[in-house]
Amino acid sequence: MAELEMIVKPLLSWYDGHARVLPWREDHSPYRVWVSEIMLQQTRVEAVKPFFERFVKALPDVKTLSECPEDRLLKLWEGLGYYNRVRNMQKAARVIMSEYGGAFPGDYDRLLSLPGIGHYTAGAIGSIAFGIRMPAVDGNVLRVLSRVKASREDIMKQSVKAAMEREVKEIIPAGRAGDFNQALIELGAIVCVPNGKARCRECPLAFCCRAKAEGIIEEIPVKKAKKERRVEARTVLILREGDRVAIRKRPAKGLLAGLYELPNMEGHLGEEEVLGQVRRWGLAPLRILPLAGAKHIFSHVEWQMTGYAVSLEETEDMDRDGLIFIDAKETEETYPIPAAFGAYAGYMDIVLGQEKYEERQKDV
Ligand code: ADE
Repeated sequence: MAELEMIVKPLLSWYDGHARVLPWREDHSPYRVWVSEIMLQQTRVEAVKPFFERFVKALPDVKTLSECPEDRLLKLWEGLGYYNRVRNMQKAARVIMSEYGGAFPGDYDRLLSLPGIGHYTAGAIGSIAFGIRMPAVDGNVLRVLSRVKASREDIMKQSVKAAMEREVKEIIPAGRAGDFNQALIELGAIVCVPNGKARCRECPLAFCCRAKAEGIIEEIPVKKAKKERRVEARTVLILREGDRVAIRKRPAKGLLAGLYELPNMEGHLGEEEVLGQVRRWGLAPLRILPLAGAKHIFSHVEWQMTGYAVSLEETEDMDRDGLIFIDAKETEETYPIPAAFGAYAGYMDIVLGQEKYEERQKDV
């Protein structure tokens, strides 16, 4: 019998009684499972809920996703970050349209071959939507199982993850593959949690958990520190011309590709340097006001920002170096602006991304 076989029954009975009610669990269509799993890869369940509801309402199926204009697509993803995830989803949607007549393939290897779908997502869609007995091992599952086994192997290593996937695959019960994978994820999300908060007294696996028996829950899982983030200084500008503010589109490649941004420059610039740059853009500054500093953390880079609000004389000059002057509300409704600029968007009286939802939820 596989070492982990004993977890199957207690885990499923626990899930039957404790699974949270979540929007993507209402129906298990592959499209909804896919959207939710991609969103959940970098974002907490509570934060994902409103994004998920809005996304599937706006783009209810593979076809609408495959046809969505890029700006609108990025706007629907605004605040979730890691925008390549949604671009890859659109690429995958186009493949599903052209090669599978718009229906998700119910086959693990075909799922895996789609853009943006790796082992985890193929396992999640395969098991939850199609009942395929393949594992979906994410960080939650690695934590739970490393603790049950009291394994001190480094879960950041691909080889450790692959070995865990093989072990899980052996014990996935026929007929309940999706529930089993979700039960492991759910246990890691609400019971077998990190940072000294594990709720072992509520855990259906406490009876066989070796880390608990050995009193080493907090030492497991072992995660080798990631590479340090590069720190970048930037100066962000609110350029105001009457009621309008300037934004511009970022290049098609690289960080935050294709999104819109507040004009910004490398380095922490002084007032005179900023005014010089503004004039080189063909604009006529009237007043300049320094704004508070702000920080934004991406996966590999950290931006340390300073900012200025600059009011401009209204001009007829059309040569503006890619700057677009728009009504601030239009930005909120139409142009996808990444949350990295959230601190400065406040000066335009708009809110971005997740904060937007948190604010709206408070109003209800
Ligand atoms: N995290 C990743 N996938 C999940 C799911 N299906 N339900 C809840 N949390 C998750």
